[in-house]
Amino acid sequence: MAKILVTGGCGYIGSHTLVDLIEHGYDVISIDDLSRSSLSALTGVEMITGKKVKNYKVDLKNFDETLAVFQEHPDISGVIHFAAYKAVGESVGNPLLYYENNLLSLISLLKCVKEFGIPHIVFSSSCTVYGNPDHIPVTETTPIQPAASPYGATKQMGEEIVRNLADSSDVKAVLLRYFNPVGAHPSALIGEMPLGKPQNLVPAITQTAAGKLPMMMVYGNDYPTRDGSCIRDYIHVCDIARAHTLALQYLASGKQQTPTEVFNLGTGNGITVLEAIHSFEAVSGVSLNYTIGPRRDCDIVAIYANNEKALQTLGWSIQYDLHAMMRTAWAWECRIQETEKQARNN
Ligand code: WQD
Repeated sequence: MAKILVTGGCGYIGSHTLVDLIEHGYDVISIDDLSRSSLSALTGVEMITGKKVKNYKVDLKNFDETLAVFQEHPDISGVIHFAAYKAVGESVGNPLLYYENNLLSLISLLKCVKEFGIPHIVFSSSCTVYGNPDHIPVTETTPIQPAASPYGATKQMGEEIVRNLADSSDVKAVLLRYFNPVGAHPSALIGEMPLGKPQNLVPAITQTAAGKLPMMMVYGNDYPTRDGSCIRDYIHVCDIARAHTLALQYLASGKQQTPTEVFNLGTGNGITVLEAIHSFEAVSGVSLNYTIGPRRDCDIVAIYANNEKALQTLGWSIQYDLHAMMRTAWAWECRIQETEKQARNN
């Protein structure tokens, strides 16, 4: 049974990927410093899969502590690297925090990958590397534009660092560029756990619907789109997770002839903010309390993926549509509310 190290395994996409890996026969361990996540995610993973996943509470920037995990597990055959800070707004206000955390963590991890001759790495990247594209849908060869935020810059630099390692060693790498991951596992046992006031659209919708937030704001309806609101490619987190398992299988198959391959992980459908809200209202039966406000800095008008390469090369397929994304996000939010209510009553 191949053993995979997942960094950030207690996070949103990391925990969903642990589930998919276990369900496809992999042995998994996690490194997560729990600075922006919780071990409760692994409780959910165990409830879904029946498998207890060991997490090492290690700061990846600490090379010696990271190395010790690899020394304890010399049979690691692949690494999936999620662990990074990802709040765009925070990165603008505190760029050095993002460069230090996201890049030093990556470099420390890759030094271990190289030292232990780990053959395969999958790197968590983002459509943010495309900046504000001149043409959509974007393909993997769409020119990279200057990053719109330090967070986006760390993803662009991270891709180059991984690519350069692959070019200079026997490591083979896959870079996965996520569009907008949303939704939750159908069991509602794991899902997105934003810290503080949610910045991303779907948790803002579900927390407003649950009454956790009094109202949400649509950041602008005067864009040149079909209803004036921004267009994004929302993709279910379980579809994203599945692509990671397929990427490892692709690497293990030996089919990848190049040191590094890049794949867009999106549905290929552009959805407006207002369409997302209307989908949520349709599946939840909740009339959402939102208002139209001014545009948000750094927002681009529209982006969505050409996902043909991932569909053809990885054998990937999209299992969840927009309604399913909203339905699972709402079920997860309702479960969080119920859990918090029980905690208050105890
Ligand atoms: C989507 C749309 C907002 C909240 C970011 C990162 C990207 C990736 C996903 C990590 C925009 C609008 C949002 C709200 C709103 N993260 N919105 N009211 O900015 O496309 O992408 O998260 O990889 O790298 O850049 O996602 O969910 O923040 O916004 O109107 O309360 O929803 O203006 O048009 P974004 P988002």
